[in-house]
Amino acid sequence: MTQYDVRPATEFESAQIKDLIHLVGINPSGLDWKRFLVAVDESGQVLGCGQIKPHGKDILELASIAVVPQFQGQGIARAIMERLLAQSPRPLYLMCIAHNGPMYEKFGFQTIEYKDMPKYFQRISKLFSVAKAVRRTEEDLLVMKLG
Ligand SMILES: CC(C)(COP(=O)(O)OP(=O)(O)OC[C@H]1O[C@@H](n2cnc3c(N)ncnc32)[C@H](O)[C@@H]1OP(=O)(O)O)[C@@H](O)C(=O)NCCC(=O)NCCS
Repeated sequence: MTQYDVRPATEFESAQIKDLIHLVGINPSGLDWKRFLVAVDESGQVLGCGQIKPHGKDILELASIAVVPQFQGQGIARAIMERLLAQSPRPLYLMCIAHNGPMYEKFGFQTIEYKDMPKYFQRISKLFSVAKAVRRTEEDLLVMKLG
């Protein structure tokens, strides 16, 4: 098993965080390193990351959960999420592609309906539906809530 520490990111790791988010192909906006936790190995490589992203005053989103492909399946995302969840107020929201829903259910998140979403997530959800129709992809976007 790979040895790593989970800790707050430093400015020095900002580029590695952005590279990882691009590598795994998830939302590349709002990547301020100051909000991030990172899993870092002995050589200083960022193996995984995640953040709690605020939208306005009241809405908090668990976001940017990513692990370098070679290091997936070793509990790194779990270690990052447990730390983030331990320090975050509730409720906490997230958005994910449907196939990742079961992972977040393990942490207590539940899918919510459009009418129960804060406005921010309703907007994204609508945009996604349009994009989905255009691209003809099958995967749905889930908005999930904890607490
Ligand atoms: C999703 C991702 C972050 C998981 O990282 P990981 O380090 O491999 O995950 P972990 O090994 O910590 O797994 C955590 C738990 O979730 C489970 N899990 C992981 N991916 C899952 C999936 N797609 N569906 C169901 N369960 C899943 C694991 O079995 C594990 O369960 P356990 O702790 O009860 O045994 C990683 O695959 C990744 O970076 N994917 C690409 C980016 C992405 O899709 N991010 C999510 C954006 S919403």
